Amino acid sequence: MGITIPFVKPSIGVAEKEAVLQALEMGAIGGNGRLTQQLREQMQQTFGVRHVILTTSCSDALELAMMVLNVRPGDEVIMPSFTFVSTANAVVRQGGVPVFVDIEPDTWNIDPDQIEPNITPRTRGIVPVHYAGQGCRMDEINAIAEKYGLWVVEDAAQGVGARYGDRYLGTWGTIGCYSFHVTKNITCGEGGALLTDDDDLGYRAEIIAEKGTNRSAFLRGQVDKYTWVDIGSSFILSDLLVALLKVQLQRMEEITARRIAIWERFQRELKGLEDDEYIVRMRVRPPAQINGHIFAFRTVNPDWRDPVLQKLRQRGIEATFHYVPLHSAPFARNHLPNGRELPVTDLVSRSLIRLPLFPDMTDAEQTYIIENAHDIFRKL
Ligand SMILES: Cc1ncc(COP(=O)(O)O)c(C=O)c1O
Repeated sequence: MGITIPFVKPSIGVAEKEAVLQALEMGAIGGNGRLTQQLREQMQQTFGVRHVILTTSCSDALELAMMVLNVRPGDEVIMPSFTFVSTANAVVRQGGVPVFVDIEPDTWNIDPDQIEPNITPRTRGIVPVHYAGQGCRMDEINAIAEKYGLWVVEDAAQGVGARYGDRYLGTWGTIGCYSFHVTKNITCGEGGALLTDDDDLGYRAEIIAEKGTNRSAFLRGQVDKYTWVDIGSSFILSDLLVALLKVQLQRMEEITARRIAIWERFQRELKGLEDDEYIVRMRVRPPAQINGHIFAFRTVNPDWRDPVLQKLRQRGIEATFHYVPLHSAPFARNHLPNGRELPVTDLVSRSLIRLPLFPDMTDAEQTYIIENAHDIFRKL
């Protein structure tokens, strides 16, 4: 049997297992129970935000955000094309139109200089996506939003635990959305959260997430019965998963520190490949402080990407790539207005490689990946 290093592996310890068993024994398997209340408070304190609504995924948190913000047919929302489909789907489901703009060549985050030229009278908001857990230039993005009266929804699916300046990602925009999917830094398998400091939006999100009812206020004893008060859906997370997530949140600093250490070692020990013009590594630009979510680099020649990936996999290293840019995906071509050219997005998506990165990766596993990456490129 040869070696296999998986792409991701959640770090689930004894405490998580005990918490889930305890929740089962307590019968805490429904949503919006005591554990949910505890976790919401824990997250409000940890991230320094007034409202946290737990959802079944970040996709749901993004959809909830667009519902809360009343995105209507024809409303335009500016976002990168280099992102996961959920960023755009949330807007499209409301009848809104994603307006895709290009990314920066070094951070692979939305290029703030591309935002203003794409603002029209129909523009309602901006969705920066914090790629690999590196914060977008939030001060500039918020200034543009303020100038034009737009809202900002941060897609911080990958950004949990990362900061921009002295604030956590997800707390810079009007609304922030987190993912706790199995691939993310802290996880409960499937889960997400909506964060906001705006009381009106926070209370409305709570209602929409609870089928359009004021059940959350009822559970807090603020009303004597609950009823239908707004549009709604069911976005709430089971307390069984919340039990697991509570422990993961307590471990956030430990998990993040380990991921950053692995990320930094890759960055350091693959520098030789950049010096020899095989790859281009992601740049971290202060005041962004990463959370070590993704380690990725670009091959200098996009034609090298697939053969390198294939060789890494042949050697048991489950490296991968993403994204198929949304502006050129079949849905966008068939249903959205004719897209513009996004040359940086196209180049990055054709040449990007992601290496395995998970907190329990051993030093020996990482050495194996680094040595093989050098070997494969140098024998191209
Ligand atoms: C940028 C981005 N947005 C949204 C999502 C959706 O997250 P979830 O799987 O929790 O719905 C992801 C998940 O990979 C993501 O990377």
